[in-house]
Amino acid sequence: MPDDATLILEGVERKFPTLVGSEGEKAIDIAALRGSTGYITLDPGFVNTGSCESKITFIDGEKGILRYRGIPLDQLADNSSFLETAMLVLNGSLPSSGELDAFTSRVTESALIPEEMRAMLDHFPRNAHPMCVLGALTNALAAFYPHVSATSSAEEIDLAAARLIATVSTIATFTYKRSIGEAVVYPDASLSYSENFLNMMFSSPVSSYERDPDIVRALEMLLIMHVDHEQNCSASSVRLVGSSHANLYAAITAGIAALWGPLHGGANQAVMDMLGDIHRSGKSPSTFIEMAKDKSNSFRLSGFGHRVYKNYDPRARIIKSVCTKVLQKQAGKDPLLDIAVNLEAEVLKDEYFIKRKLYPNVDFYSGLLYKAMGIPTDMFTVLFAIGRMPGWIAQWKEMVSNPANKIGRPRQVYTGNNETAYTPIKKR
Ligand code: ACO
Repeated sequence: MPDDATLILEGVERKFPTLVGSEGEKAIDIAALRGSTGYITLDPGFVNTGSCESKITFIDGEKGILRYRGIPLDQLADNSSFLETAMLVLNGSLPSSGELDAFTSRVTESALIPEEMRAMLDHFPRNAHPMCVLGALTNALAAFYPHVSATSSAEEIDLAAARLIATVSTIATFTYKRSIGEAVVYPDASLSYSENFLNMMFSSPVSSYERDPDIVRALEMLLIMHVDHEQNCSASSVRLVGSSHANLYAAITAGIAALWGPLHGGANQAVMDMLGDIHRSGKSPSTFIEMAKDKSNSFRLSGFGHRVYKNYDPRARIIKSVCTKVLQKQAGKDPLLDIAVNLEAEVLKDEYFIKRKLYPNVDFYSGLLYKAMGIPTDMFTVLFAIGRMPGWIAQWKEMVSNPANKIGRPRQVYTGNNETAYTPIKKR
């Protein structure tokens, strides 16, 4: 155990305990800082601030390592299913086959949404962004199902977890069907999670969906890649909202809202828009690379860079390698894929990106794969949300089960006016 940290402030020396995580992450516990010194810390973007201790996901951004409950992501990508990985993340260990069967049945049985909720869809504009609809209908689950919050029983929480994992897929596909003016396709209990999603997306009363095992496997793998990523913007939003003891559905809705942003899960859509722009412009990828390097231009290369990874994002590496079959089927057919491959090759050679350790992130290749599967661009972030659902719930469960948990409430350094007298309107 390292020594306490010593802080000398205004000539007074104080000690703060240090702690080390199971993978060597070092921290200074400053819980007593304000009480003992009157000072707070200021850390925009929480770049140096740990908000909690967690046993769910380990990331080493320098080495490009990502593990769920200790198991490396590539082993899960090769051997596991989305629902098994969801159970691992939610419960802390891999399930027995009986446990997995029971959870799978529970998810399958929970996939229908109430008809009143389906009818709510009719009142959204057809061209509404599906993340907007997903957020609204996830929040609406709280109106249809029992309130689940920090004080609920383990059984109530487990049921709500299965329901969220099941219904996010149903809401997503119903939203898509409505956007194209087609009848919704109800969940089919005989299909696996990913098959069911693809069937609800792409089958219709007049044409059945031909299942391609490579596509089904690629989707399972993509969902596994997204299951959790420790204290990112959306998981932190879920924890912050949940810390007020708001219900679980409201907390998850906060995660969906955070994920929608183009600096977070919205980046996979931004990547496709950028590749489309490169294609339409007829210019070479290097023109766009130069634009991204120009500090007078706010343009950034979407799908590159990450707050934590200063190495190749392991998810991007797995997606790129595991899905070559699917991508190869598209090779030559999709100019955007060729542009993406050329862009990545040029970026990895460029001094600007090398010096700043900017590598492709998960969103760079996931968008291409979704496109290859026939998923429309504005649904990409929804796919991210479907994959991330178990992680959000696991983060929430871990937080509410910790008796030491407090409501999240950062402080600020106020820099506004000092006391100012009110001026009546006639005198202004
Ligand atoms: N293109 C060009 N330059 C970049 C990029 C990029 N994609 N990303 C970072 N930089 C540069 C910055 O301009 C900065 O340069 P400087 O040191 O000369 O000022 C330096 O690299 C560090 O960048 P920051 O913005 O300080 O890094 P931060 O950790 O705050 O941001 C982020 C990370 C938001 C992901 C950023 O890399 C980015 O905007 N990338 C593009 C959007 C994207 O792909 N987001 C998806 C992230 S993955 C996910 O959420 C699932």
